[in-house]
Amino acid sequence: MSKKYYITTPIYYPSGNWHIGTCYTTVICDALARFKRSEGYEVFYLTGTDEHGQKIQKSAEAKGRKVMEFLNEQVDTLKKVWEVLDISYDKFIRTTDDYHKEAVQKIFLKLYEKGDIYKSEYENMYCTPCESFWTKSQLKDGKCPDCGREAELAKEESYFFRLSKYQDRLIELIENNKEFLQPVSRQNEMLNNFLRAGLTDLCISRTSFDWGVKVPLDPRHVVYVWLDALSNYITALGFMGEDDKLFKKFWPADLHMMGKEIVRFHSIIWPAMLMALDIPLPRKVYGHGWLLFDGDKMSKSKGNIVDPIVLCEKYGADAVRYFLLREVPFGNDGLYSLRAFLNRRNADLCNSLGNLLSRTTAMIEQYFGGILPAPTAPKDDSDKGYDLDLKAHAEGLLERVRDFMDKLLVPEATNEIFKLINRANKYIDETTPWVLAKDESKKARLGTVLYNLAEVLRLSAVLLSPFLISAPQKILDCFALKVPKSFKGECEFGGLKAGTTVKRSDILFNRIDVEKEILAVEKEQNK
Ligand code: MSP
Repeated sequence: MSKKYYITTPIYYPSGNWHIGTCYTTVICDALARFKRSEGYEVFYLTGTDEHGQKIQKSAEAKGRKVMEFLNEQVDTLKKVWEVLDISYDKFIRTTDDYHKEAVQKIFLKLYEKGDIYKSEYENMYCTPCESFWTKSQLKDGKCPDCGREAELAKEESYFFRLSKYQDRLIELIENNKEFLQPVSRQNEMLNNFLRAGLTDLCISRTSFDWGVKVPLDPRHVVYVWLDALSNYITALGFMGEDDKLFKKFWPADLHMMGKEIVRFHSIIWPAMLMALDIPLPRKVYGHGWLLFDGDKMSKSKGNIVDPIVLCEKYGADAVRYFLLREVPFGNDGLYSLRAFLNRRNADLCNSLGNLLSRTTAMIEQYFGGILPAPTAPKDDSDKGYDLDLKAHAEGLLERVRDFMDKLLVPEATNEIFKLINRANKYIDETTPWVLAKDESKKARLGTVLYNLAEVLRLSAVLLSPFLISAPQKILDCFALKVPKSFKGECEFGGLKAGTTVKRSDILFNRIDVEKEILAVEKEQNK
């Protein structure tokens, strides 16, 4: 039986507010999905859009647009972002898809019939001109956060989900299954701030707006967003639909990945809904940190937006992916600045990886007419030492990278591959091939050195292929190879065949003058 892996990002609000931080969840999941595919897993990677609710209806109306037209445009733009970043999702769900809406209604009905959904009254602050309910904490200085006018206490007939009924089971889940919610700090947060404080039932319908899934049997109500949104993880697989083969095959999810601000919904409300539906719980919920910009979570309102499409077009999607995968300590917040991004690009991609490739392929061309020489056993003790140390970095590398990926330590996984690349650059300085080339009697040694370097490049390209997209293939093009579909049999040192024709590489990543570039960008922004 083949191994399966079901991974999800949250579904995105079609807000148009997509910046490099918003791409974090999706890029991380993409690297994990690609890594698992290379490990021979049958992967299902789900992403999509969360399209219901009053805010969306209002945004469309404010622009004088029909809601669906507005949404279609937003979704097209989001898909373009994922295309530019080479996101390999298997399915894109929209909560406005008919099959999803029908399944949400069936889920609602099932929970209602079971007694886990009941009708009651929702009492909260109401802004009459905006026709909006707000919780006290949403009000700004006691006034409506949209229009700034007085809000008053009002009652609305609503349906409620019996969340309180699941409190003990949820506490037990988080306390006893340490794998379920990660990193560990999020377990304490959920237990102390929410679960042990006591759960109240959750209001899951609204009558004050109509942009949503209609409540079956009571269409004056629409299902309030979280019940609708969270269900996407199962409706996308056909749960309660005409064909639930994918659900039977892939559920439970192996990993729900998301930013820390929505962990509560995924580790409390979502498992409670699944318990009520009597279906298995996801294996892991992971709340990652934020990418911060000048110390704040990025958002359009703060005027510090960084457009991922512009960044990818200017500096390459690989560089953007690499920064996201490498720079944010997993589980914690990371900092973005153009300087940090360009420095990382120059140091790792241009200097370490790019130089290793250009030096190695240039020397194979210059000294061996572009034909890969065969390695021989080193005679000299120091040569032996260098070779052994280089190979020690290569041997078992897949296992070390896998170990980090299993723990979701993505920056550490990429760092492990770069340790080998950096070791190979040091190996060039130690073995000085340009000196060996001057002495005909050292030709065999020179051949061995260049073979070893070429082999490091091959192995690094294979292992980098879940993280970067264009660079690994460009490296392998020099050796007339393709990125393999699977790591199997590809990660042992010595895979390259002597006698292979080696093509001199083009520039992999151009070097950027950081100070000049920052000045140019600032000038552009101030225009
Ligand atoms: N629609 C809800 C999710 C419903 S899932 C059933 C939502 N959407 S979102 O568009 O606001 O966020 C999508 C993802 O982007 C989340 O994982 C969120 O944490 C992530 N990020 C948004 N800004 C971010 C940063 N600045 N840094 C890292 N991740 C960030 O929430």
